[in-house]
Amino acid sequence: MAKTKTHTRFVCQQCGRVAASYMGKCPQCGAFDSMTEEVIHDESAAKKNAVNIRGLTGRSEPQPISKVGGEAEERVPLAIGEFARVLGGGIVPGSIVLVGGDPGIGKSTLMLQMAMEMAKTQKVLYVSGEESERQIKMRAVRLNDKKLPEQLLLVTETNLEVILNHVRASQPDLLIVDSIQTVYLSELDSSAGSVSQVRECSSQLRELAKSSGISVFMIGHVTKEGNIAGPRVLEHIVDTVLYLEGDRFQAYRLLRSVKNRFGATSEVGVFEMREGGLSEVTNPSEAFLAERLVNAAGSSIAVTMEGTRPILVEIQGLTSPTQFGNARRTPNGVDFNRLLLITAVLTRRVGLKLAEQDVFVNVVGGIQIDEPAADLAVAAAIASSWKDLPVKADVVFIGEIGLAGELRMPSQMVARLREAQKLGFKTAIVPKAIRRGEEYPKGIEIVEVRSLDQALDAALKKS
Ligand code: TYD
Ligand code: MG
Repeated sequence: MAKTKTHTRFVCQQCGRVAASYMGKCPQCGAFDSMTEEVIHDESAAKKNAVNIRGLTGRSEPQPISKVGGEAEERVPLAIGEFARVLGGGIVPGSIVLVGGDPGIGKSTLMLQMAMEMAKTQKVLYVSGEESERQIKMRAVRLNDKKLPEQLLLVTETNLEVILNHVRASQPDLLIVDSIQTVYLSELDSSAGSVSQVRECSSQLRELAKSSGISVFMIGHVTKEGNIAGPRVLEHIVDTVLYLEGDRFQAYRLLRSVKNRFGATSEVGVFEMREGGLSEVTNPSEAFLAERLVNAAGSSIAVTMEGTRPILVEIQGLTSPTQFGNARRTPNGVDFNRLLLITAVLTRRVGLKLAEQDVFVNVVGGIQIDEPAADLAVAAAIASSWKDLPVKADVVFIGEIGLAGELRMPSQMVARLREAQKLGFKTAIVPKAIRRGEEYPKGIEIVEVRSLDQALDAALKKS
């Protein structure tokens, strides 16, 4: 196709802001020297390319809401339960999903496992711009050496026009693109992975999904800052954004939905990376607590909510005298500022002398806790280490800490308490309820306290 160079524009590579002329500093995100020149291509040609894939044109005609078909979205079931849960129950035909995550975390593995599962009943096209067909096959054999599905087609390709031709020719039900940063449109001058390529390619894939009913999954790389590389607008283009997270050196992986037009957000699926790929962890609390040392100082159990699911995790704290100069605060799995706040409250309101102590906190299993509801467990782990007194056996902590050392009630207490009770914990130390909405479950002793001080008194063993 002839290039239709009408004129050029400048696009900020950080945030996607478009300007007519070059600017040294982006007026939107403030980045310096981030604008690059790009050629504007003929959009209508690109649109024409994308639709009509299955003879369906992008019909647009207003109709009464009652006449619009499909009360509940039709979903294709997915046999990987933890994955289906994050998607909201299965794959919605014609939806477009972005799967992000750090390099090497297991995105390609997850997509290939899904592709092999779906190919049992559907036709799946797996397009890779990163690995050869041979490499993918070798991985597939490793994941499932019994029988490779006939309906799974592989191709190594990065030119989006060619990819769309493959889609026309093979008519899959599911298309997987690994990764969006490797595909390009030859109409655009900028290189693959640039903001405009990523945006244009994903828009065309979106057109494809919406007009043909093919479900599209694309893998997106994550930058050092933790954002999906390319413009933020990518998140607006797709229906669902999933992140695969975890510590590369640990086995557990969390698949989290941060946006979902077809289900609840912040839903989480838990996997474990094994020899044969990602395997589902249906009871994450048990898995996270498996290696716990009972009766050791510096360990406590928090009940954190991941989406609608309560998960028990072990928090470890260690205090050790500072050797040179400033005391260090080193969190792994909890927010740094949250740790500063908790150590400050422990110092000022509880009287622990932490000013000349290095404080380390670690969440076992390599997961990241963002919730303030884990504050009390973090404080208990630190205090337990400092006093060298273990936390009493079978105790869980739930509660947010305020600056005055008071405890605040987090949401979904009943679900948290039920999970703790299910796993055999006998006591829960929780903030005192002003007004209890629901009855707390029986079979677990609830110790209600007002302040951090009282919580530590109740929790730490005195010999
Ligand atoms: P990969 O899916 O290639 O990561 P991404 O696409 O996110 O970059 O996963 C790579 C890692 O997963 C690699 O370090 C090896 C590990 N792995 C296993 O431990 N078991 C397996 O069965 C497979 C396929 C990969
Ligand atoms: Mg990969």
